[in-house]
Amino acid sequence: MSVQVEDKSMPAMRTSDKGSMRALVQEGRGSADVLHIREVPKPELIEGRVLVRMRAASVNALDWHSAHGGLLLEVVSRIMRQKPQPIRGVDLAGTVEAVGPGITRFKPGDEVFGGAPAAFAEYVRAREDGLLVKPQSLSFEQAATIGVAGRTALQGLRDHAQVKPGQRVLIHGAGGGVGTFAVQIAKALGTHVTAVTGPRNIDVVASLGADEVIDYSKEDITRRPQQFDAVLDIAGTRSVSSLRRLLVPSGIFVQVGATKGSWFGVFGRIIAVMLRSRVLKQRVKFYVAKATVEDLAFLRDLFLAGKLRPVIDRTYPLSEAREAIRYLGTGQARAKVVITED
Ligand SMILES: NC(=O)c1ccc[n+]([C@@H]2O[C@H](COP(=O)([O-])OP(=O)(O)OC[C@H]3O[C@@H](n4cnc5c(N)ncnc54)[C@H](OP(=O)(O)O)[C@@H]3O)[C@@H](O)[C@H]2O)c1
Repeated sequence: MSVQVEDKSMPAMRTSDKGSMRALVQEGRGSADVLHIREVPKPELIEGRVLVRMRAASVNALDWHSAHGGLLLEVVSRIMRQKPQPIRGVDLAGTVEAVGPGITRFKPGDEVFGGAPAAFAEYVRAREDGLLVKPQSLSFEQAATIGVAGRTALQGLRDHAQVKPGQRVLIHGAGGGVGTFAVQIAKALGTHVTAVTGPRNIDVVASLGADEVIDYSKEDITRRPQQFDAVLDIAGTRSVSSLRRLLVPSGIFVQVGATKGSWFGVFGRIIAVMLRSRVLKQRVKFYVAKATVEDLAFLRDLFLAGKLRPVIDRTYPLSEAREAIRYLGTGQARAKVVITED
């Protein structure tokens, strides 16, 4: 599979009638089979919101988890009082179709990118403060990849690990969406980067500027001596204790993600990290990335400075969005998977 980073020309949008649109709707939980393209009402434009015609939207692990989650996810969502969201997707790039009352920063025709719920749809209603104007040199597909993955990588390294220039950083799980951003951001922050990834992604990760790339099918990183100031664990495939042993005494372990196994495994790991932090007072952290537009602007500026290159593995038209989510779940995806308008 070749890595796609360039612009792709887009065919015209198809919609059924003025008041409706097509969207990827989640009907139940358990597998990607619960996702269906349906005709649904177009979002109503209300005060403080922008209606965006979706040109590209990227797939995140969250979309896979939301479709696959079972009872435990249902319970956690209710505890956190999350609104049921039958249309998946949170990262998009597109063209402003119309603006609601009170909108001052955008006008119809503007090309924008950022975050909004229900992004796997022909039209998406977004908050004004969740969007930025898209630079011309950034394609719609590239722009749609940045939101969740880029901010998660940035906040993990800069805010939670608080890496400093010259420090040695281990990115564990460097070949996925978050990982490919993390390698580049860690380099942009002036650190020495060791990246662990699988055989499929060695070349891509090396091309992003990692100082050392380790193929986990050939070398067990946990057998190395202590040497890292920070470990960013995106993969969650090795025990916390084995990865912490790689840290120098003042080093910090930051848990970003977990394997796409059972929900008990995912939550178990998060709870274990929190207990280590709060009870054992170890320098370990878990965080949930914040959707700040300032960080999106920081990442846009890294792109404009030539320090950040969104990497896209495959694109799928909206009509095949379910396959995009299925593909992410295979563990074979390299960097980002993107959905485009049909
Ligand atoms: N804390 C937060 O706020 C936050 C935000 C977003 C995402 N996340 C989490 O971060 C993780 C990555 O998200 P993503 O969107 O980047 O997903 P993704 O693109 O599917 O990436 C999956 C990651 O898992 C690694 N991986 C898969 N199988 C592996 C194996 N057998 N051994 C070692 N590594 C393996 C991959 O590493 P290689 O490709 O290098 O093998 C890749 O880095 C997910 O768990 C997600 O839930 C957390």
